[in-house]
This record gives sequence, C-alpha cells and structure tokens, in this order.
Amino acid sequence: MSAVLQIEGLEAGYVRDLPILRQVNLTLKQGSLTTIIGPNGAGKSTLIKAIAGIVPISAGRVVLNGRDITGIRPDEMAPLGLAYVPQTDNIFRTLTIAQNLALVLRRLPDRAARLRELLDTFPPLAEKLDDRAGALSGGQRQMLAVAMALATRPTVMLMDEPSAGLSPKIAAEVLDLTRSLTATGVSILLVEQNVKQALRVADHCYILAEGRNRLDGPADQILSDPEVAAIYLGGRRVGAA
Ligand SMILES: Nc1ncnc2c1ncn2[C@@H]1O[C@H](COP(=O)(O)OP(=O)(O)OP(=O)(O)O)[C@@H](O)[C@H]1O
Ligand SMILES: [Mg+2]
Repeated sequence: MSAVLQIEGLEAGYVRDLPILRQVNLTLKQGSLTTIIGPNGAGKSTLIKAIAGIVPISAGRVVLNGRDITGIRPDEMAPLGLAYVPQTDNIFRTLTIAQNLALVLRRLPDRAARLRELLDTFPPLAEKLDDRAGALSGGQRQMLAVAMALATRPTVMLMDEPSAGLSPKIAAEVLDLTRSLTATGVSILLVEQNVKQALRVADHCYILAEGRNRLDGPADQILSDPEVAAIYLGGRRVGAA
C-alpha cells in the first residue's frame, strides 16, 4: 500500500522557538485508518492542526499524495483533497442541516448529486434536513461534521476526537462509521482518547508523548503490548517504579 500522507521530522508550535512537536514522523497508507493516541497534552491536536495549516511549522515537511503541502492555507485544503474535522465547533448550530451541507457543497459543480450521495451515506441526516444542527444528538452532530468534511471528496480526512462527549454506545457507533468510510477510498488519520475503541477500528497506531513519537505499530499489536495496556488501557502496570 502506498502512502497518501507523510509527515517528516515535523516541528510545530504556537510560540516561536518553543516547539510542541519535535521530529515527528508519521505515514498514512492509502485506504487505511490510522489512529494517534497519547496522554493529554501530548501534542495530538497540535499535530492534526499543523497538517491542516492552523499551527505554524518550524521544521520538517507534510507531503500529501506526493506533493509538499507544508504550511498549507485552510482554503487550499479542499482542492488538494484534504479535509479536517475539528474536535469542537465543527458544525453551525444555528443553521439547519441542509444549510450546513449547502455551505460546503456550494463550489461543487455537481452539488445536487453530491448531496444525494451524502444523504444516502448518512440516512439520519436525510430525515432531519430542515432541523437546526444544534438540535441533533451528539452522535448525529458528529455525523453531520463528517458528512461536511466528505462533501468535497477528500483523499485524506483528519479527525480530532470524534467520540468525545458521547456515550460509550454512540462513541462505538461513530467509530464504526469512521471505519466504514475507508471502504469508499478515503484514508483517515484519527486522534482519539478512547484508546480501546480506536484500536478496535484502526489498522495502525501511533503513540505520541511529550510532542515526540513514542511507539507505533499495527493496531492489534499495540493493543496486546503489555506496556501500552498498563499505561493506556487501565491494566496493571508492569515494571512500574
Ligand atoms: N492555542 C495554544 N496556545 C499555546 N499552547 C497550546 C495551545 N493549544 C495547545 N497548547 C499546548 O500544546 C501542548 C499540546 O497540546 P495538544 O492540544 O496538542 O494536546 P493533545 O495531545 O491534543 O491533548 P488532549 O488529549 O488533552 O486533547 C500542550 O502543552 C498545550 O498546553
Ligand atoms: Mg487534543
């Protein structure tokens, strides 16, 4: 499988000369679901935001489909095939579902056809087109945010904690939905706090700690790693001081 997104030696942060990310490397393979986990403050959201051009990059490269997109502007993302679903404020609550979708579809020549495809993919949204997005359940709100990100047919979708604030059952449903999207050809980089659920649906996992690569491997191997289990899955700590 070829790489659709490559992060090479990335340094990025909010304040000049104070990098949060240090020498971060990551590869997202075509059609895969790769998850990034790690403790609070590890730099997971910063990494996603640096890829999306929201946090300044001081060193390293971001390569999307073989093209250097380091420090991309947000308005350049969609035409290049990159989509970003932020953790919060990812929909317009006071607008209806139809209006939210119309906003992201407005530049597409085939927007009516694309809208029908999206509503076929996410039937609960089709039933509520004229409802205000703020009135949706938490799971449906994430569904709308994902539908909006997919509107422009991205090749790579970045998602920051789509399961945050949801009940365990709905969180599992949102992650199942995320998994199912890879069958449509989109490759997904997923930040998650919900480590067990993320590893259940992911192909590959990267662990970040203190802004650096800590460990990575196939999700099933990470799931059975005793140290990972001890630290991230609430198991007994092996060999802890
Ligand atoms: N807007 C900001 N300005 C300055 N520093 C920030 C900003 N946002 C985050 N940071 C700092 O960057 C570091 C990494 O934060 P980040 O949000 O990337 O972590 P995270 O791994 O996503 O954590 P969480 O699991 O809590 O979401 C933290 O030390 C944080 O305090
Ligand atoms: Mg975060």
